[in-house]
Amino acid sequence: MGGNIAHSSGGPRCVKYGTTKDYVLNLEVVLADGSIIDTGANVLKNSTGYHLTQLMVGSEGTLGIVTKITLKLLPFPPYKSLLLASFSNAQMACACVPAIFEAGVQPSAIEFMDKKGVELSVKAQQIPFEFGEEQAYLLIEVDAFSETELLPQCEKIYGSLEAHQVLNVLLAEDHESKEKFWRIRRSIGEVVKQHSIYKEEDAVVTRSYLPDLYEGVKGIAEQYGFETVCYGHAGDGNLHINILKLDLADAIWQNELPKAIRSIFELCKQYGGTISGEHGIGLVQKPYLDIVFNQKHFELMRGIKNSFDPHWILNPGKIFDRA
Ligand code: LAC
Ligand code: ZN
Repeated sequence: MGGNIAHSSGGPRCVKYGTTKDYVLNLEVVLADGSIIDTGANVLKNSTGYHLTQLMVGSEGTLGIVTKITLKLLPFPPYKSLLLASFSNAQMACACVPAIFEAGVQPSAIEFMDKKGVELSVKAQQIPFEFGEEQAYLLIEVDAFSETELLPQCEKIYGSLEAHQVLNVLLAEDHESKEKFWRIRRSIGEVVKQHSIYKEEDAVVTRSYLPDLYEGVKGIAEQYGFETVCYGHAGDGNLHINILKLDLADAIWQNELPKAIRSIFELCKQYGGTISGEHGIGLVQKPYLDIVFNQKHFELMRGIKNSFDPHWILNPGKIFDRA
């Protein structure tokens, strides 16, 4: 939970339920000078001064050490339908995402996977899976408190899929098939790690720009000679872009990779987005923060850091430097 709070972590269900920050009501925090505070109160609404709780969530351990967490809980919807839709055109798959919302459905997950990601995942796990001419997939889940609420949502989703040249739709009929589809999706990050040295990006754009981001990423990868595996939380406009080293020379990887990443992040900014949706900045994304923050932003953030941690002793070197 501490890690989740530190990153304001996300995941597939955020498209309906929001990220960690949407559930944190109050935190007990040990500050750099040793004092202990509650950042807020254990209440569902709070309009009392600056929102220190939200400031702490996602601060990656740079402002204080969280020692107690008060969360809001929701009832768990026990019924779910899960569809795996395949598309011959990855941009079409991305373009279908906003259309599903426009059709009046609020899915509990819409995940994008390009073919390479699914191929690596099923191969590594020896999951039987038939491939055709598809280039990308959407894994779409709806949830509800009664079974009868599911079908009308699925029908609307089918309509949107058909309007976006879907090739095939598989409905997970039972628990095992649902598990299988989710396992394919959830393992992609891990199997990429086993496949090659890689660099993972956590790009996020305004949802309607997802097709442009995807096309732009493929163009940049081609320009630099990198192979990519793209997957992620399409419903949030959040695309994980894994750039693979494979057998590229070390010198090319070291010199060209930062330029390719910079180009990708500049696209994110252009498409209304930013450089991390849920993974945070830490050390490795620090060199790219200037793409989305100007001097004013850095001044404000350094001011906050100085007032919480005047000697910069908490998780030093993370997110941005002292000067
Ligand atoms: C995922 C992690 C990498 O979505 O954020 O699989
Ligand atoms: Zn993710």
